[in-house]
Amino acid sequence: MGREHYTVLLQPSGQKLHPRSGESILDSALRAGVNLPHSCKSGNCGSCLARLVEGEVNYPFGPPMGLNDEDLGNRGVLLCQAQAVGDVVVEARLISRAGQAQVKRLPCRVQEMTVLCHDVMRLVLRLPAVEPLEFLPGQYVDLMLSEGRRRSFSIASSPSKPTLLELHVRRVPEGEFTGQVFEQFQPGAVLRLQGPFGNFTLQDSSRPWLMVAGGTGLAPIKSMLDWAVEQAEPRPIRLYWGVRRREDLYALDTLERYAREFDDFAWTPVLSEAQGDTDWPGQTGMVHQAVIRTLQDLWSYDVYVAGPPALVNAARKELPEAGANPASIFFDSFDYAPDTLKAIADGD
Ligand SMILES: Cc1cc2nc3c(=O)[nH]c(=O)nc-3n(C[C@H](O)[C@H](O)[C@H](O)COP(=O)(O)OP(=O)(O)OC[C@H]3O[C@@H](n4cnc5c(N)ncnc54)[C@H](O)[C@@H]3O)c2cc1C
Ligand code: FES
Repeated sequence: MGREHYTVLLQPSGQKLHPRSGESILDSALRAGVNLPHSCKSGNCGSCLARLVEGEVNYPFGPPMGLNDEDLGNRGVLLCQAQAVGDVVVEARLISRAGQAQVKRLPCRVQEMTVLCHDVMRLVLRLPAVEPLEFLPGQYVDLMLSEGRRRSFSIASSPSKPTLLELHVRRVPEGEFTGQVFEQFQPGAVLRLQGPFGNFTLQDSSRPWLMVAGGTGLAPIKSMLDWAVEQAEPRPIRLYWGVRRREDLYALDTLERYAREFDDFAWTPVLSEAQGDTDWPGQTGMVHQAVIRTLQDLWSYDVYVAGPPALVNAARKELPEAGANPASIFFDSFDYAPDTLKAIADGD
């Protein structure tokens, strides 16, 4: 009988992982508190690309979309989908800054619930006073459901409040967890979370910031900007926020506050469904296209893009074509959870 548990050796760090049966290499790393680069966790974005040095992996859900022929030729593997089928050696970059924050599993209590607009709820989660969560602005946590399933939500508040985490939860049509948030949750409810995760974090550079958010993609960017306000960040900041309709602009107060508090801040709302809104004087269409139409010298910016996968994928392709530096684009893709994507793929 073959062995069920294999060892994954990460190079050059030398760390060893021991994936459980049916667990991806990325999940085994996150479980062990090893922060490997990733974003969507669904095989689409390519963030978790690593190189297979020895051994074989299997993709139980089929070849991932984010792996192209060139990657395959270079023995590229997407660790969020790949499962070891023997002992393997993988060359993978660790995230050193994020790696300093310890990944924890914690209970938390819903302290506040505020309806921000028809389909976005602000949750404030209180952690035990003796268990603050250290994180970097832009990271996310997983809320744990039954049977090991989890749902990812970006932290929208500043790391300076490590026992009070703000989340912006958009209700997904027919969504299991987000439906419960709107229909069943009450202040005082107890949840379990794990985190912090993710490498959508501010870069060590002095370049101006261009933030591009779609819907609740504003959440990780708000964490970055709340933190930047506290640091009295002087650099120019341009924020483009895309939503469907005017009533979806759920954080006007926050953005007006930034305009007062930063030295050089400007923001642009962009409506993708402005057809019925004949009074709308502003930008329309996809948010990254509004950036391309209205902002000069994209090359000079560090660009942070967060929100639906369709936005992230389009922005990653089209912003460099319009002059942005591909090495200075950082993104957070809000894909559905792996169990949901598997159920959709299987037609369950
Ligand atoms: C890193 C990261 C950060 C994120 N941050 C945020 C954030 O800050 N705020 C936010 O609002 N969202 C965020 N998201 C997205 C969020 O995680 C998802 O919206 C959430 O997981 C949806 O959970 P749910 O249980 O409500 O929906 P699910 O039950 O997972 O369903 C999602 C959709 O799939 C459909 N579906 C489910 N099963 C099937 C099936 N078998 N066949 C066909 N269709 C099916 C459902 O009808 C629904 O439309 C983030 C995602 C990631 C990866
Ligand atoms: S492809 Fe693996 S995290 Fe996106």
